[in-house]
Amino acid sequence: MSDAFSPVGDMIVASTSGPLSGEVIVPGAKNSVLKLMAAALLADGKYVLTNAPIIDDVVIMADLLMAVGLQISFSPASPGEVGQHIEIVNNGAITPVAPFELADRIRASVNLVGPLLGRFGEISIALPGGDDFGGRPIDMHLRGLEAMGATFDVTPDGIVGRCARLSGAVIDFDFPSVGATENILMAAVVADGTTVIKNAAREPEIVDLCSMLRGMGCRIDGVGTSTLTITGVEPRSLQAVTHEVVTDRVQAATYIAAVAMCGGSVRVSRANAEHMGMMLSRFTDMGITFAIDTDGITATAPQQLASIDVSTLPYPGVATDYKPLIVAMLSVANGVGIVTENLYPGRFRYVEELRKLGADITIDGHHAVVRGVKHLVGAPVVAPDIRAGAALVVAGLCAQGITEISDVFHIDRGYDDLVGRLASLGASVSRIQAGS
Ligand code: EPU
Repeated sequence: MSDAFSPVGDMIVASTSGPLSGEVIVPGAKNSVLKLMAAALLADGKYVLTNAPIIDDVVIMADLLMAVGLQISFSPASPGEVGQHIEIVNNGAITPVAPFELADRIRASVNLVGPLLGRFGEISIALPGGDDFGGRPIDMHLRGLEAMGATFDVTPDGIVGRCARLSGAVIDFDFPSVGATENILMAAVVADGTTVIKNAAREPEIVDLCSMLRGMGCRIDGVGTSTLTITGVEPRSLQAVTHEVVTDRVQAATYIAAVAMCGGSVRVSRANAEHMGMMLSRFTDMGITFAIDTDGITATAPQQLASIDVSTLPYPGVATDYKPLIVAMLSVANGVGIVTENLYPGRFRYVEELRKLGADITIDGHHAVVRGVKHLVGAPVVAPDIRAGAALVVAGLCAQGITEISDVFHIDRGYDDLVGRLASLGASVSRIQAGS
C-alpha cells in the first residue's frame, strides 16, 4: 500500500485478473427499488418488494420512510431468488415531514414529494442529495406539481409544499427527467381527474414503477411510451402489493465491462437484454460477443477491445450511468474513442482517477477523448461516486499491479456485493476493512 496515501474507511484492492469465467446473478435496480419504496406511501397495507438489492441507499430510504411513519423490515431472499425482501407496512399514520439529515443523503428522497403531496396535501423535506455531478435542479418536479395545484416555499435548505387535493393537468417536460416523471406519476395517481405527462422518461425503472402502481389499482395508460395518461383514483381504493424489482441494468453492464477488460466469458444471469439494447449494440461494436436467452446474457471478450464514439442519452439511448464503465473500457481499447455526456456536465470527475492508472483521456467541454493505451498500471485512486467507483474497480482488475480504491462507501450505495460477485468470477479483488 502506498505510504503517501491515507484513506478513510474501507478500501477495495484489485489486482491483475483474468480470464474471468462463471456466472453472476444480478439483483434488482437501485433506481427502481427506491421509488417502489416511496410508492408504498400511497395506500395502506403490507407490501413486499422481492429481488431488492442489498445496498446502502435502500437503508437510507428505509430510515427516511420510517421517519415519516412506515414500518419497514428486511428478510433474506427465498431459495432461487436473489437480493432480499423488503416488507413495508403502511397503517396510514403518516407525518409528511421528512428529516432533513436523511433526505439530503440521496437523490431519491425527492420521490417522497409526489406521493405525500398527492395523498396528504403536505410535505416538508430537504433538497435532495445524491452524487455530485454539478447542479441537479428539481424545477421540473416543482413546476409539474404546481400545474396540478401545489404551492411551494423553497429555501436553500428545503422545500415546504402544500395543496388541497391535486387536480389533473397536462404537463409537457422540456427534457424526459426520470425523477420528475416518477414524482408527477405518483402524485397524479391519486389526483382529481386526468394528468397527461408529455415527453415522459421511459426508463425500464419507470415501467417497473408503473407496473407496481397498476398492481395497486392505479390507472395509467401509455406505459413505456413518452406520453403517460393517468386517471386519478381515491387513495382508499388502492391496495398494497407484492412486487419483484426489475433487474439492475447498470450492475449487469458492470460485469460485462469486467469480462471485456479482463478477458474470458461470463454469464450474467437475470440481465434483461431488452432493457440494455443500445448498450449491448455498442458493446458489440467494441468486439464483445453476446449469447442472449430469456434469463440472462453470456458475454465473451474479444482479444482486444475496439474503440467507439458514444453519446449518453435518455432511454432508450446509452444511459449516463454506463459512462464511467465505457470510458474505462476505451482506455485500453485499440484506437481513439470520443464519449459525449449529454445529461450531467460535471460527470467527468473520475477521469482524473483513471489517469492515475495511466489512461490517456482529454476532456473537451462535455466530450472525453480516450486514446487506448497498451495497459493500465495499478495505483491508489478515490471513488468519486457510485458508478465511477465501480468503473475504477473494474479498471483495477485489468491494470498491471495493485489498485487500491478508497471512499468505497459510494460504491456501497448502489452495488450489491460488487467485490464478492467479481471474486466469484475469478477476479483478484478484496475488501480491506478500515483499521485492519
Ligand atoms: N433536471 C433538471 N430539472 C429537473 C430534473 C432534472 O434540470 O427538475 C436535469 C438534471 O439536472 C440532469 C438531467 O435533467 O441534468 C437528468 O436528470 P433526471 O431527473 O433524469 O435524473 P434523476 O432522476 O435525478 C436518475 C438516477 C440517476 C441517473 C439519472 C438519469 C435515481 C435515484 N437516480 O436521476 O442515477 O443518472 O436518472 O438516468 O434514480 C446513479 O444511479 O448512479 C444515478 C446517478
